[in-house]
Amino acid sequence: MSLLIWNDSYSVENDLIDSQHKILFEIFNTLHDKCCRSEVDSFYDSILQLQSYTRYHFRAEEQYMAQINYKKIIMHKLEHRYFENRVDELTQKKNERSVDLLRLLITFLSNWLLQHVVGEDRKIPPPPGSRQVRPSDSGPPRETPQLSP
Ligand SMILES: [Fe+2]
Repeated sequence: MSLLIWNDSYSVENDLIDSQHKILFEIFNTLHDKCCRSEVDSFYDSILQLQSYTRYHFRAEEQYMAQINYKKIIMHKLEHRYFENRVDELTQKKNERSVDLLRLLITFLSNWLLQHVVGEDRKIPPPPGSRQVRPSDSGPPRETPQLSP
């Protein structure tokens, strides 16, 4: 069962970044399924995929922010590094084979991903000529992020 459901209100109005966010959601949902089935070994295989893809995605996002001289790039990059370090730290405990640890990881990942995508990534100005103009680059998200029931 998917826990993170993509919603168009999460769009950052940048097709490349949106497509990467959708992939991140898919990887996360695979992890969530494995956590629900208590598949510890398989869960950590997918965590490697998440680690690898988030690094790839963060670099793409940071490259875009640098290209447009985004003024909050340093703080934004620090958030990315925090996420990478936290996931690394939690996965180093995989030998404990604890289902509680999987649940802790799932909670951290879902909360962080939603808050970051909706709260921070949407502040990054879209490329010129993107699909729509946002009412405000600094305002609150159009919708509160939702986890599926
Ligand atoms: Fe980001």
